[in-house]
Amino acid sequence: ACFSLGVMVTMNQRLEADTLLLVADEFGYKIEFSDADLEDSETEEIVDSEEDLVPRAPIVTVMGHVDHGKTSLLDYVRKTNVIAGESGGITQHIGAYNVKLENGQRITFLDTPGHEAFTAMRARGAQITDIAIIVIAADDDVMPQTKEAISHAQAAGVPMIIALNKVDKPNANPDNIRQQLSGMNILVEEWGGNVQSQEISAKFGNNVDLLLEKVLLQAELLELKANPDRNAQGVVIEASLDKGRGYVSTMLVQSGTLRVGDYVLAGKNHGKVKAMLDERGKNLAEAGPSIPVTILGLDGAPTAGDKFKVYEDESEAKSIANKREQLQRELSIRTKKHTTLEELGRRI
Ligand code: GTP
Ligand code: MG
Repeated sequence: ACFSLGVMVTMNQRLEADTLLLVADEFGYKIEFSDADLEDSETEEIVDSEEDLVPRAPIVTVMGHVDHGKTSLLDYVRKTNVIAGESGGITQHIGAYNVKLENGQRITFLDTPGHEAFTAMRARGAQITDIAIIVIAADDDVMPQTKEAISHAQAAGVPMIIALNKVDKPNANPDNIRQQLSGMNILVEEWGGNVQSQEISAKFGNNVDLLLEKVLLQAELLELKANPDRNAQGVVIEASLDKGRGYVSTMLVQSGTLRVGDYVLAGKNHGKVKAMLDERGKNLAEAGPSIPVTILGLDGAPTAGDKFKVYEDESEAKSIANKREQLQRELSIRTKKHTTLEELGRRI
């Protein structure tokens, strides 16, 4: 039937939905498509009853134009709130970390390398940020990447806090920025609007504490909660192969508690959590909601934005991982074949 439709396939190949419909029709069958064959187990809604939910730390992304001071801000926050050198090791790069403020409250920062990562994550349905800090240098203008960051936050429905940075500079003109923002329909609180903003100097740390207070205020309004008392689920922030340690994946727990020894499925990869580390390489036994951790033990590097989930049943996790792997392989074979045929055509 396939050949008569002009589709050259072997019995091991997957068919496109359209072809499937046509072929089934040939034989008098009707096809019903179920939701993406493998996704069901991971998109399964979490139903927690209200009494199981406890407050969790806000997850904050820092975005803004090049050189406006994102890294300086994150560095300052980290330096003042992380007790350096505790584990004796060097601070490792990690895409996410949790800081404890003087008042005991916690904030999780996502150190997005750029907007691309944010967009990619969003495209994959991974909505992980609760609040976006938009850093704008007050000695500059609202730049293209600032606008982009703002529209990302708006599109994702994530509340923004504007950090007017570099106010220590003699040529800083925060009113100029407020003006430009108002031209984009973003009215900051000082101007009677509802968008929080704070003048800061990320370099010298001035008023960064006030900025963090505003983050916590915003977080309070959002009433962020999660159930720590269930198998962990969350999102992969980044993953790579480390020479000495094997595959190292940074995960953000969104719900439940992740523990050493748990069996994890992340994208098409799986494995038992052998060790769990915080951003300074300190061993952790468990990590609850909003806590980012680096885990060792997966059989490969999942993609940033992949969801992860703990499975009681190891074989179930393995079989889903295998199916995903197979799907991906088939897809890549198909694309490869496609180009070869095209090339052939060109040569003829
Ligand atoms: P990219 O990662 O390249 O997009 O830049 P970024 O937004 O992370 O900026 P970064 O923190 O690297 O800062 C860029 C430059 O501005 C550095 O030379 C910082 O020292 C300087 N800078 C950042 N914040 C301040 C500030 O508050 N005051 C002053 N005077 N300089 C600052
Ligand atoms: Mg930077």
